[in-house]
Amino acid sequence: MSLPRGTDPFALVETYGSPLYVYDAEEIRARYRRLAAAFAATGLVTRAHYAVKANMNAEILKLLRAEGAGADCASPGELRAAARAGFAPADISYTGNFESSDDLAAARDGALYLNLDSLEAFERLRRLGVPETLGFRVNPDEGRGAFAQINTGGELSKFGLSLDEVEAAYSRARAAGVKRFGLHLMPGSCILEAAHFGRAVAQLLERVGPRLRALGLELAYLDMGGGFGVPYRDDENELDVEAAAAGVARAMREACARHALGAPRLLCEPGRYLVATSGSLIARVVATKRRAERRFVGLDAGMTSLMRPALYGARHRFDVFARDAEGRAVAITRRAPSPADLCGPVCESSDFFEREAALPEVAEGDLVVFREAGAYGFVMSSSYNGRPRPPEVLLDAGRTRLIRERQSLEDL
Ligand code: LLP
Repeated sequence: MSLPRGTDPFALVETYGSPLYVYDAEEIRARYRRLAAAFAATGLVTRAHYAVKANMNAEILKLLRAEGAGADCASPGELRAAARAGFAPADISYTGNFESSDDLAAARDGALYLNLDSLEAFERLRRLGVPETLGFRVNPDEGRGAFAQINTGGELSKFGLSLDEVEAAYSRARAAGVKRFGLHLMPGSCILEAAHFGRAVAQLLERVGPRLRALGLELAYLDMGGGFGVPYRDDENELDVEAAAAGVARAMREACARHALGAPRLLCEPGRYLVATSGSLIARVVATKRRAERRFVGLDAGMTSLMRPALYGARHRFDVFARDAEGRAVAITRRAPSPADLCGPVCESSDFFEREAALPEVAEGDLVVFREAGAYGFVMSSSYNGRPRPPEVLLDAGRTRLIRERQSLEDL
């Protein structure tokens, strides 16, 4: 999604400076409501725990909490942010990776649903004292993701227990005093195919189910992770989240009946789906350059503000705005005869938003608004090259509010 209708990017830049992140609160609420309704329609006891890593701004956490979401955290820092936004431990899951003893102590005290990543983590937790409810993240045989870098399953993945560790994990947990057991999976991120989700749950339960049954264990919860995708390109379709939820519920009911796993609560951990489309990154054209046949358009935002293109080769659609004679913002849609490389000001050769982009003729001072920047945008930004991290602004009920100040030079 682009900026909400009637939003003047020039007015925002005048007030808050450039580059800046802008989020539309109503869009986040609408996404949450659609996803929560899709899971509620399954008739199961379900809850969506927002994956804080996607965007941990305190105002966004509070907004999602007010809607009824729980929170999924991956570090003590995220746990602290969630607690400060008002989430209680019963609303929080913790799914980490290579958890240290400090991580585990924070997670045990701060989250009811603790999904351990390895047998070693369990041994460390045992020394600290195990909680009554405990889950394990089990690595599905296959992973998926929009890019290889965001595939989190399969034998090359660093996440979770492997299947042959399942019996040892749950039997040791029971022996240590755990009373309620959970199972977590997370095969990958940014998946648009609805059938994937039910298939992943069915496959994992097919393999884990007999092992739990052999131990006589039932599941108190199944946490299916996140991964709900959003389109980043014109030729991609919206995820049918209703079909995804229905498919997961069907797979879970069938497998739980077949392997006598009880009636677990179903948790999910959506990050991107809830916040990506709400957010835009606004950047200003600083200069253009021509070299031989090539045109370079340089912005005041680069890989330090939005890292996904440089890191994954991800692309973000964008709109370009100029001011008309009356000072109003108008979208420039007329394409220039040749494409241009859209780049940032960082001293790195990978600092490009897009090579050979279909850009109009632009001039210094025009604004480029990148779409779908609400997830994994600000949170992955850095101050490399001495570039302060951008501010964040929330649009809600026709008003704009600064929800994080631009990092100061003093702070650097
Ligand atoms: N739960 C766990 C345990 C996760 O590791 C993740 C994401 C999520 C939930 C949320 O996944 P989502 O619903 O957002 O797909 N930085 C990458 C995405 C990395 C995702 C890592 N884990 C990107 O910019 O595309």
